Amino acid sequence: MEAHQALLVGELFAGRFRIEALLGEGGMGLVYLARHQVLGRKVALKVLGEQADDPNAEARFRREAQAASQIQHPSVVSIFDFGMDESGRLYLAMEYLHGPTLADAIAQEGPFAVPRALAVLEQIADALAAAHAAGVVHRDLKPRNVVLLAGALEAPGGELVKVLDFGLAKFLDSNRTALTAQGMVFGTAEYIAPERCLDQPGDARSDLYSLGIIAFELLVGRAPFSGRLVETLRAHLASPVPAPSEAAGREEIPAELDALVLRCLAKRPEERPESAGALAEELRELRSSLAEAASESTIVERKARFSRPSAELEADPVTVSSLPPPAPDTDRLRGQAAQELAAPLALLELAWCLGRLGLAQGLAHEALSLASALYGVLEAETARERGEEDSVDALAALAGHEAALRERLLPLREHALGAGLATIVERARL
Ligand SMILES: Nc1ncnc2c1ncn2[C@@H]1O[C@H](COP(=O)(O)OP(=O)(O)OP(=O)(O)O)[C@@H](O)[C@H]1O
Ligand SMILES: [Mg+2]
Repeated sequence: MEAHQALLVGELFAGRFRIEALLGEGGMGLVYLARHQVLGRKVALKVLGEQADDPNAEARFRREAQAASQIQHPSVVSIFDFGMDESGRLYLAMEYLHGPTLADAIAQEGPFAVPRALAVLEQIADALAAAHAAGVVHRDLKPRNVVLLAGALEAPGGELVKVLDFGLAKFLDSNRTALTAQGMVFGTAEYIAPERCLDQPGDARSDLYSLGIIAFELLVGRAPFSGRLVETLRAHLASPVPAPSEAAGREEIPAELDALVLRCLAKRPEERPESAGALAEELRELRSSLAEAASESTIVERKARFSRPSAELEADPVTVSSLPPPAPDTDRLRGQAAQELAAPLALLELAWCLGRLGLAQGLAHEALSLASALYGVLEAETARERGEEDSVDALAALAGHEAALRERLLPLREHALGAGLATIVERARL
């Protein structure tokens, strides 16, 4: 497939998409940021390369679009439109995702902490379960086809995972067509299941194998098999995979997670987890049991903790000092909410630090009720995003609360500085 001439910024495509930027290039063509002229919404527009000499490409593309647009799930990218423009270029308009791919995140940040890895894997498994229920197998699951969106409070771990490019998906119940019978191996060698190395069509459990490779890579920082194509394929077929905890030298990876990853990576499909849904359930259980064990604080758990009656906190200063620092993790909050909440969150952290040092127990638990209010606002913000307009009052009330707390904390900042706590204050960014 030859690359088509890139569209120009400002150009109108298919009579309704105004091109705003080039986002990237993949095996099937170029992807642009565009704005739908009528709806005014941003879309990611995937435009297929020149395929005049390949009549099958059109069939593949239409199949991708049709299959993918049937899956409705928060972790599956939404397809808005697809078709052919007046000059014969096929296109697919999908939800524009402003976030790094999982491949970018691993490259930049290295292996993920266990809870984060579990939250990501669980969402991919959920996306696959939805796809499989719609009769669609992904067939090209890899970190480049997974995008992370920070600041999604409704998602496990506050990070919404989107799986895209059900590009090589095909209906589970359709027979193999001439397209695949040609012996072409679709997908990327590092993530491909053993049975598909043998040119078998693969089924839902082939996706679970790919998910197993992603899990390994998330925990270890690299895929188990890579290098030359033939060797990679052979390794999928015959080489054993070490447990992630061993491969990475990470003792904190629980044995259950090691076992789960290795089950996904079973050479024989029937030895893998029964379904994506069952796998998602196991990941969920593992994540919550770990969170419990480590008193890991998801937003919900934090809220419950912060909402404890203040009398109890007064009576038990140790409770204050054993609380986790309320992380001013504003990156994870959305747009306007992030800006509005940055200051109170910073205050909160300072109050907690002071409280922990025994400098201001009273203020520390006051900060805890502010935290409770904050999380209320976060929920209201989320509601507002869903179209409910009732969070304005909550934000206004919070602003008042914040001003009062700030006034009382400022003198303590001096105190803290005097006590040589500059680093803490710096961290709290007051
Ligand atoms: N929905 C989207 N929102 C934002 N950016 C996107 C979207 N879809 C794709 N992109 C960007 O366009 C690039 C090319 O995507 P494409 O799916 O064509 O290739 P790929 O997934 O990187 O590789 P492959 O062709 O092997 O699937 C991606 O790397 C990503 O940066
Ligand atoms: Mg892609």
